Amino acid sequence: MLKVASETCGEDLVGLHVGAAAHLRLGWSDGVEARFHLSWLRNACRCESCGDPASGLRWTSFADVPRAPGIRRIELVERGGRLAVVWHDGHESSFDAVWLRGCAYDLPETLAARRAVPRLWRANLTERLATLPHAAFRDGGEAALFDLLQALCDDGIVRLRGAPVRPEATAEIAARLGPIRETSYGLVQDLISKPDPQVAGQTARAQVPHTDEPFRYSPPGILLFHCLAAAGAGAGASLMVDGFRIAEDMRAEAPDAFEMLATRQISFERRHPGEVALQAEARVFSRDGTGRVCGVRFNDRCIGPQICAFHLMPDLLDTLGDLSRRLQDPVNQARIPLEPGDVLIFDNQRVLHGRTAFKQSAGTRRLRSCHVDRDGVHSRYRTLAARFAPAESDTVLPQGCTV
Ligand SMILES: [Fe+2]
Repeated sequence: MLKVASETCGEDLVGLHVGAAAHLRLGWSDGVEARFHLSWLRNACRCESCGDPASGLRWTSFADVPRAPGIRRIELVERGGRLAVVWHDGHESSFDAVWLRGCAYDLPETLAARRAVPRLWRANLTERLATLPHAAFRDGGEAALFDLLQALCDDGIVRLRGAPVRPEATAEIAARLGPIRETSYGLVQDLISKPDPQVAGQTARAQVPHTDEPFRYSPPGILLFHCLAAAGAGAGASLMVDGFRIAEDMRAEAPDAFEMLATRQISFERRHPGEVALQAEARVFSRDGTGRVCGVRFNDRCIGPQICAFHLMPDLLDTLGDLSRRLQDPVNQARIPLEPGDVLIFDNQRVLHGRTAFKQSAGTRRLRSCHVDRDGVHSRYRTLAARFAPAESDTVLPQGCTV
């Protein structure tokens, strides 16, 4: 069950005081008070001529609202259930008491309200990895899909078992989650060990945990690994690391290193001569407006020569070494062997993936990989939450990597 940092209460308004400084003070029946600027209220009018409350479309413009709009009349109506305002120009607004409480930006808790709290993990994820039979995913309707998406938002990773072992199934499963994004590697990529690899996943070598394609301005969102053939028992197991866990560890244990990775841009690049020359400068840890880590990107195979101020370079390289050691520490790695018919679905802007080495001679390992836009998946989760868990339908989720 996704935890929401706090919930809007259902109190009525009992107090209204309009001050001289272009703001008013509202009091709710549980004793909480908060100030609102009159300009904020006028901009937030949810009447039909100002916008469409259902879709969130606005017809008003910030350009039309003065810093201190005048008021002809203001009062609490419907026994404190609403605040009614008649503005200086005759326009009438009516605000729901509960809605106002949820928007009370004067209260510190409002900033954290409705924000999902990710469930962080280390190697112990293997004991509780959310796993759904493919048949339930296929036949369980939207309730089963919601359960899957909820777990994906909580942990950043879920698994399907018993999916069809045929190539077309990869895109069919992905399309149920959200819009598939095509890249220069195509709509679905075959990760099959071969002598002329284009990406590291096409070799039999061990892979250090990484996020895919950090060299894109906007890296892949939700990744699917669909296993069609495994390379022998226990070989080529996936090694998954919770990047949010690593970020919080560094924030607590190595705050200067954390700050460097959250503020300094690292240079990532990928070249296939004559085909692609991708390059991005971006921070390893992205933070949202409240300081929470909301996105991770890192792949030390795709890092170009770093350029920063001379005196910072030793610290930057030390910091990248610290991060890499944490990613390679088995304590942080959940080891998940993939069998034919398994599908790992994970957030590529939170969860890093690697794998153990395997012997080419032990058999051909074949994964199919494709990715789905994160905002599309999050939109589907919120849309389904409106039916299955209404308190979560407004949840603010980590929005992923910025630059
Ligand atoms: Fe990868």
